[in-house]
Amino acid sequence: MKNIVILILILSIFSFSCTNSSTKKTADLKMNTFVDGLLKKMTLDEKIGQLTLFTSDWSVTGGTMRKDYINLIEKGSVGAIFNAYTVDYVKKLQKIAVEKTRLGIPLIFGYDVIHGHRTIFPIPLAQASSWDLQAIEKSDRIAASEATAEGINWTFAPMVDIARDPRWGRVMEGAGEDTWLGSMIAVARVKGFQGDDLSAQNTLLACVKHFAAYGAPQAGRDYYTVDMSERSLYEWYLPPYKAAVKVGAASVMTSFNEIAGIPSSSNRWLLTDLLRKEWGFNGFVVSDYTSINELIPHGVAADSAQAGMLAINAGLDMDMQGSIYLNQLKDLLKSGKVSQETIDNSVRNVLVAKYKLGLFEDPYRYCSLEREAKEIMTPDNLAFAREFASKSAVLLKNSNKTLPIKRNIKTLAVIGPLGDSKPDMLGSWSAAGQSDKCVTLLEGLKNKLGNKTRIIYAKGCETDSCNTDGFAEALKIARQADFVILALGESASMSGEAASRSDLGLPGVQMDLARIIIKSGVTSAVVLFNGRPLAIEELDKIAPALLEVWFGGTEAGNGISDLLFGDVIPSGKLTITFPRNVGQIPIFYNVKNTGRPFDPSFPKDKYKSRYLDCPNTPLYPFGYGLSYTTFRYSNLSMQKTSLNKGEDIEASAEVTNTGEYDGDEIVQLYVHQKVGDVTRPIKELKGFKKVSIKKGESIKVSFILKMDELSYYHQNMSYNYDGGDYDLYIGPNSSEGLSISFRIL
Ligand code: NOJ
Repeated sequence: MKNIVILILILSIFSFSCTNSSTKKTADLKMNTFVDGLLKKMTLDEKIGQLTLFTSDWSVTGGTMRKDYINLIEKGSVGAIFNAYTVDYVKKLQKIAVEKTRLGIPLIFGYDVIHGHRTIFPIPLAQASSWDLQAIEKSDRIAASEATAEGINWTFAPMVDIARDPRWGRVMEGAGEDTWLGSMIAVARVKGFQGDDLSAQNTLLACVKHFAAYGAPQAGRDYYTVDMSERSLYEWYLPPYKAAVKVGAASVMTSFNEIAGIPSSSNRWLLTDLLRKEWGFNGFVVSDYTSINELIPHGVAADSAQAGMLAINAGLDMDMQGSIYLNQLKDLLKSGKVSQETIDNSVRNVLVAKYKLGLFEDPYRYCSLEREAKEIMTPDNLAFAREFASKSAVLLKNSNKTLPIKRNIKTLAVIGPLGDSKPDMLGSWSAAGQSDKCVTLLEGLKNKLGNKTRIIYAKGCETDSCNTDGFAEALKIARQADFVILALGESASMSGEAASRSDLGLPGVQMDLARIIIKSGVTSAVVLFNGRPLAIEELDKIAPALLEVWFGGTEAGNGISDLLFGDVIPSGKLTITFPRNVGQIPIFYNVKNTGRPFDPSFPKDKYKSRYLDCPNTPLYPFGYGLSYTTFRYSNLSMQKTSLNKGEDIEASAEVTNTGEYDGDEIVQLYVHQKVGDVTRPIKELKGFKKVSIKKGESIKVSFILKMDELSYYHQNMSYNYDGGDYDLYIGPNSSEGLSISFRIL
């Protein structure tokens, strides 16, 4: 009887998956017939129009090259528009495309929906610090719902560029320095935006960017040259893009940079051989803002015609804002430099995306006034934004249990330029977020404490100026308080695009302000707002407590106040290393040992890989973050320490909450291969679990690792793992933890 039931079950699963795949085949056939039919009807001009993307005259990130985008839509010279939203506006533009052009092909509407649309969530680097894939996915799901309720159906996100250099301002937009974690976050974000049905009203096309290696510019200067070994590219930089493509990301954006002499927008190996042929990408590729034009200053194209030829022949389907395809493709076809087939393939890729969005069925699918009125900044969305702001913060220091602040304090002072600055709560790339709707730290504290505590505030100084006139007032305020919260850091515009910095200290005179207030003797804690790791060695030395809150979004102030008063216990951990100083950069955890590793027990050993004037270690390592409670790690064990190839690697450790609060801990697993075919990093993250542990309780945290996770690129670039000896670590961050060795036979 039991066997029959199992058989029926297997047969029904089999027939379900057969029906599923045959339904998909029929749907694909229908789509391809439609798209090919449409292609046949199109003139060359209409085709070129589909490959052209223009910004509206709303927010732009470069020179607006076309002011007459509305006329161009009417002429059928545009296939997609970005920086236009709200139902009224989108409907107006869509109507022109649908009613005034010969074939009525609807437009796609794109926008940089990076960390929320109207409800703004913490910046992506902060989100990553939560190590909470579900929360990340959920925030993008909400962002997609809000954006589509305002007419948008394509986001220029996620940015999955691995970044190991905090001078680069766009570290704020990514997941940090780790490839393995970055790939997981890339997947969560694509799923969040796209859901599992692109034609649903509340999902939109994701755009994985910036392909490729935009996060590795020399010296951390935005748009600068990228040059790295093929192995580093494959091993560290490409996997997150690949992971995003594998889960069906519908579009990919090229990067501004070159890699080894070839700018991405003209790199046929990258856009066609790797992306389409090797990875099986079947969406469309868009340039970054005028990046096709930039092939000229890059020095690989003499003029616009050559730039256009290189880009489209490389596999770049859509020209963002540059007008190159619009102005050059016709002649390029005539002269035989670009084939009809190449143009048709690119147009097909764009039309398929429109079809998948359901735009041919209903071009106004994303133009519902009712949704616009109901689905934006809902109480649920805001509540989640508050929760996420506190989950994303990282407690960097907390000597003598300075935090949480006692509820019964009489006077609380907030001092510093970030204490009550609405625009700075959102962070860079904050889409349609409205700063007037943000909760500042000061407001959050007032919301929490009501009239029971006297709250006083002094700005002290601007974020980035030399003026110290406000110091006296700040000191006066501090002296009246039982506790001072110093709100310091960068303004939102100091990170993001075109926001590289060569000095990573606190900008302006903020460090001077901190010194004066901290030395005045009042109990204080620093709340740090910033979009990148800062070099704050002195602050770390003198401040009793440091809470890294990044830019927390619309509900930042409430989320931070929850942490400061212990209503939420900090649980975030860094996904990017904090250097001691700029001279240590690039500094990241998964480094190589070198032939002359420095051994701190022999500090005078000169001929070792070291600095004369600074330790090799960072200020705060990757994976680091404290809680108000404490955790002890013990009993690391492995199911087997001698394994055959192909077996799962099973390890566990006991984690005990030894402190005074219930808390969440992000338990991390790292692996080190002792001898490889090429040199291997001293540690690589291969697993993590975020667990809740009640005070006094111990839990066993277990990991199962597929052996494939140990694969790497060998001398001949084959990707597999070796037999041999390995170390495995389970611990609270990349620098601490228990270790055990195992062998693969
Ligand atoms: C330039 C940025 O590099 C890119 O990330 C963004 O999506 C476009 N501008 C459009 O705003």
